[in-house]
Amino acid sequence: RRILILNGPNLNLLGTRQPEVYGATTLADIEKMCRAHAETCGATIDFAQSNHEGVLIDSIHAARGEQDGIILNAGALTHTSIALMDAISSAEVPVVELHLSNIHARESFRHKSWIAPVAVGQICGFGARGYVLAMDALLGHLEAAK
Ligand code: DQA
Repeated sequence: RRILILNGPNLNLLGTRQPEVYGATTLADIEKMCRAHAETCGATIDFAQSNHEGVLIDSIHAARGEQDGIILNAGALTHTSIALMDAISSAEVPVVELHLSNIHARESFRHKSWIAPVAVGQICGFGARGYVLAMDALLGHLEAAK
């Protein structure tokens, strides 16, 4: 299995960015954790981050036919980007939506997700561990869909 783990705006700042909300783990730590977990699952991962909506869209387009699934933490673009939603709809690659924080327990503008309607499901509120949970969820989904 090949999985793309795609991170959106400001997630490059993890570890120093509002640690009371997002934790002390850096994105590099998370990547390491994901790679270690992928190895135990026999999966291969590509791990990427961009602060630019268009770059994220290009990555989703490029995943078509190349990746078995995508784990997407779109950051604040989750709440605004119909373009990302359309990219997912067009890509024909299953997406698991991920957030470190529980977006439903935060400001009301974070309750709306444009990703959720086109995702297999959503994992949020479990901090950095959510990445591992999302991998298990995606691999389980792919196994069941076979
Ligand atoms: C986030 C939640 C978003 O609301 C926020 O804009 C982020 C991070 C999370 O992982 O909890 O940048 O996606």
